[in-house]
Amino acid sequence: MKIFKDKHTLQKEILKTEGISFVPTMGGLHKGHISLIKQSKKTKLKTLVSIFVNPKQFNKKSDFKSYPRNTKKDIKLLKKLMVDYLYIPTFKDIYGFKPKSKVFLDKSSKKLCGKFRKGHFEGVLNVVNRFIEIIKPRYIFLGKKDYQQLYLIKKHIEKRKIRSKIVECKTIRENNGIACSSRNLNLSKSQMIIASNIFHYLRSLKKKIKKNYSLFNINKIKKELIKLGANKIDYLENYNTKNFKKVKKPYKEYNLFFAYYIKKVRLIDNI
Ligand code: PAF
Repeated sequence: MKIFKDKHTLQKEILKTEGISFVPTMGGLHKGHISLIKQSKKTKLKTLVSIFVNPKQFNKKSDFKSYPRNTKKDIKLLKKLMVDYLYIPTFKDIYGFKPKSKVFLDKSSKKLCGKFRKGHFEGVLNVVNRFIEIIKPRYIFLGKKDYQQLYLIKKHIEKRKIRSKIVECKTIRENNGIACSSRNLNLSKSQMIIASNIFHYLRSLKKKIKKNYSLFNINKIKKELIKLGANKIDYLENYNTKNFKKVKKPYKEYNLFFAYYIKKVRLIDNI
């Protein structure tokens, strides 16, 4: 595996290839990332993974600081997976140039996580737009756990007529049901159990509301989550995954999207 810290050296290498399959990450690699990488490798193009904890997408300094980092362990794993290239840029490498394309931020960026994490999606789109200009990947692999992010990146690519194709990958879960996330590394064993209980409660609720939508009583559900050990709930809403509109009628295809805290750890998922 070749490791690059500088975009010019990376770009020289990319020119020698037939195209790149790109897996952007912020490190703290887990089973979800492994699954993205395995799918990327199936394209037979060179797989490039990036590790960059992007400060611009964190709305709180403390959250940026406590975001799990373990580059040594990540590198070991990526070598084992026989990843071709790893890009670990500095802040200047990413932000020290003016991109040709302007970020397109769809209005749905104001909903769900966008409402509770001011500037978050602006930060995500900013960094992804820059990565795309540097790498010009043929494919970009993204997980459905961060569905709103995935949706907004797709909209940006469509609007700006970028030729990279987004490959949507299913959410990978721990044995206890919770979605794999780097943030899980900040949960204690007992907090993991709380997260798992919340997941199972919401999954069975989703099955019930499919049959009887009047059971979707937000205040009651929020109270139940607090009882199960959540400390704060940002949102709990049903959204149509195709057009990313809030579902008002039960017969529509939808996922239940939620974000909540266990102490200081913020967890999101959609089921
Ligand atoms: O999902 C993530 O890990 C990040 O938001 C991404 C896409 C790597 C951009 O920093």
